[in-house]
Amino acid sequence: MIVTTGQLFEVAYGEFAIGAYNINNAEQTMGLFQGCVDSQAPFIIQISKGARAYTDKRLLEAMIRAAAEIFPGVVFAVHLDHGDEETCYDCIDSGFYSGVMIDASHEEFRKNIAITKRVVERAHAVGISVEAELGMLGGVEEKVTGDNPCLTNPDEAERFVRETNCDSLACAIGTSHGAFKFTGGQGIHFDLLEEIRNRLPRGFPLVMHGSSSVPKDEVARINAAGGNLKGASGVDVNQYLPAAKRGVTKINIDTDGRLVWTRVHREHLTANPDEIDFRKPGKVFIAEYAAFIASRNELLGSAGQVDTVRKHVTAN
Ligand code: G3H
Ligand code: 13P
Ligand code: ZN
Repeated sequence: MIVTTGQLFEVAYGEFAIGAYNINNAEQTMGLFQGCVDSQAPFIIQISKGARAYTDKRLLEAMIRAAAEIFPGVVFAVHLDHGDEETCYDCIDSGFYSGVMIDASHEEFRKNIAITKRVVERAHAVGISVEAELGMLGGVEEKVTGDNPCLTNPDEAERFVRETNCDSLACAIGTSHGAFKFTGGQGIHFDLLEEIRNRLPRGFPLVMHGSSSVPKDEVARINAAGGNLKGASGVDVNQYLPAAKRGVTKINIDTDGRLVWTRVHREHLTANPDEIDFRKPGKVFIAEYAAFIASRNELLGSAGQVDTVRKHVTAN
């Protein structure tokens, strides 16, 4: 069952967070669905511009439709991650996506409002939810590093949400994209998160990007198998639920999945130098990724919530 991100947030707000996981290929798709079935969790599938270009946007759509048949009973949203205006319109017009993110956070404040407003109008006309971003995280956003994030200003957040009518807001509260977070020693700014929440309408959903935990043991295994990720670090998983209790309803995790992929393939190929059957490490990855997803859903509090969300959506 494909639902909007807004429908997921109505149930999750203030209690737990929905995991938003990026997919690029069949193995990630299978692992993600399996992990969410195993943990009985609703979830958000995220598709970036890069993912849409990697093979073809139509292939991703076909894989997701097939996965929903292979794993009946799942409840999820299909969401564009870090979209520009043109890509948002393509997703809105596709009739497949149930949520889009317009990321005009690199633009000047008033231009960000104007672009976001246009996307909201087009999306709401067909019942799709819109996530927008204010402030800048390091990693994917140009010229912003993990040490130099441009944190969200609560005054601006209040005005931005009022003027754009967006459905959720991605805030820069200290996290950054990728495997090298908090290199300046700072953590999540919970005080800022609370201030932003208090300035927005009651129950307004917030989004935390850059939420991978970059597990130490995963990094150590990658490095032991020939990798070079020295100094990698991520978000403390014990901070997911405290963030959820303060209004974060969507927690974005992509890098951690890449680490699982890298560890599985590095270890497999190192241990089996004569191996050329990519399905062997691929099978291991699907199982390991499913276990990883289930473990994250437990930490986010979304595990076991699929029936509640389904009942909520069917009743409304
Ligand atoms: O925040 C960005 C996501 O991790 C997606 O990354 O643009 O390389 O697909 P990507
Ligand atoms: P990570 O790089 O921490 O996984 O964040 C992913 C993300 O924010 C996708 O939008
Ligand atoms: Zn992001």
